[in-house]
Amino acid sequence: MKDKLRSQGWFGKTGKDGFIYRAWMKNQGIPDYEFRGKPVIGICNTWSEFTPCNAHFRELAESVKRGISEAGGFPVEFPVMSLGETLIKPTAMLYRNLASMDVEESIRANPMDGVVLLCGCDKTTPSLVMGACSVNLPTLVVSGGPMLTGKYEGRDISTSDVWRFNDAVRSGEMSQQELTVAEECMCRSRGHCAVMGTASTMACMVESLGLSLPGNAAIPAADSRRKVLAQLSGIRIVEMVKENMRLSDVLSRKAFENAIITNAAIGGSTNFIIHLLAIARRIGVELKLEDFDKLSSNVPLIANLQPSGKYFMEDLYYAGGLPAVLKELDAFLRGDAVTVNGKTIRENNAQASCYNRDVVATTAKPFNSLSGVAILKGNLCENGAVIKPSAASAHLMKHAGKAIVFEDIDDYKARIDLPELDVDEHSILVLKNVGPIGYPGMPEVGNMALPKKLLAKGITDMIRISDGRMSGTGFGTVILHASPEAALGGNFAVVKTGDVIHLDVGNRMLTLDVSVAELEQRKKNWKPIHKKYDRGYVMLYQQHVQQASEGADMDFLNGGSGSEVSRDSH
Ligand code: FES
Repeated sequence: MKDKLRSQGWFGKTGKDGFIYRAWMKNQGIPDYEFRGKPVIGICNTWSEFTPCNAHFRELAESVKRGISEAGGFPVEFPVMSLGETLIKPTAMLYRNLASMDVEESIRANPMDGVVLLCGCDKTTPSLVMGACSVNLPTLVVSGGPMLTGKYEGRDISTSDVWRFNDAVRSGEMSQQELTVAEECMCRSRGHCAVMGTASTMACMVESLGLSLPGNAAIPAADSRRKVLAQLSGIRIVEMVKENMRLSDVLSRKAFENAIITNAAIGGSTNFIIHLLAIARRIGVELKLEDFDKLSSNVPLIANLQPSGKYFMEDLYYAGGLPAVLKELDAFLRGDAVTVNGKTIRENNAQASCYNRDVVATTAKPFNSLSGVAILKGNLCENGAVIKPSAASAHLMKHAGKAIVFEDIDDYKARIDLPELDVDEHSILVLKNVGPIGYPGMPEVGNMALPKKLLAKGITDMIRISDGRMSGTGFGTVILHASPEAALGGNFAVVKTGDVIHLDVGNRMLTLDVSVAELEQRKKNWKPIHKKYDRGYVMLYQQHVQQASEGADMDFLNGGSGSEVSRDSH
């Protein structure tokens, strides 16, 4: 432990200042001894009834508190902005950076020596980790855990089925009545989405980065062992404060490499790229978009989980959880990377067992040899674009087709189902102005639904390109995060219906078959069509957000300011 606890800069004071710092806290019935040199642990809680995936967090916080008290710490729970993926409009991603600012400033401004981050729904994990990185106290993550698998008419369902149900209703295979029944069957317990969507991807990210205790990612929210893990995490954070083990001691370049390798092996969400880039920039680790391709191209997909595979997070837990995956990946991982419990990732997972090889395959006999993400380059995306090959159709991985261009999401909605739309299964759908600045907030609309008339013909996949994102639960031959985005006026901004686009995933190419001279001419005549905001947070966001290839954080939030508070308030 450092000679003096940070919290003693408040609670250890005498005179008027110490009186004020302690006296008001005592209105909660806290005895004086709690303030006398115990490590104060903040529990950063994203509980909200508007964030159903995190609605059980007040109860989970109680388990963390028990562990903190047991280890001789003083737990103090505090709320931060909570981002519920399903309700927040226009998109939770618009507010990830805002929430991270709330987290950063709340941690720095308050008398805490360490912090436990309670994360669940998609954006609640990156926003909390980003904010905490910019302060760099001893920090440990407890995830909320996935929901139990949904059960509908005798079969297992979860969030990826939402897209299937939508297509089935649009093609007439499913009635509205049946859809309502499915709605009642899907979310049958506390927790976040039960597939390897973004929330599960983020939970696996923190475990593979070494930011949580082993096993954190997959324990279902409804399983009593989730509370046990929370309590043990409470004990450990107090020890971390005593050891002065900070986030930067865990988040080495090796830790980031482990997260990328693991994400490939589990078929994690494409959103992982944006969030990990943003976290790396906050903590000061060099990470490039190309690293995701380079580090994951030889990693096989061994977790057979939706949307890339068949099973659900509950099945992953029963099969041995993420430790079973990490043990299997031993030859790929940087085994000596240190984790929050003070052990290396190799030591943590050496004794892990796999109880179902259909869910967690071996690297020698993987579930799919294709994994990870491919980073595409070409004149349509000079700064890169992303595709998840394991969720795409093999026959479209090398393809040339005519573009059908939608200038923005409203244009897409207005025309996609028009009978006269000149589209067939060889066409390539292009959606512009859904990037960070253009929408704004980069919504998950990249896996746009296919035209009704093609669904009726039995077509289930087409190439779709956008500067937006895709839900981690989505699938298809979907090219995302095209950068620079259309709102910045690059080549992507001037692609027109009828242009021929070449996709060659094997060679990592995405090119537009239009001459340089023609592109330059089009760019001269280009005018932005996205709405510009002139007040409040959204204005700030539009002015400062960086491109997806840089993590979509705000430029002034890169890096950190440490934990020192320069001035006293009294
Ligand atoms: Fe919260 Fe999917 S909606 S994790």
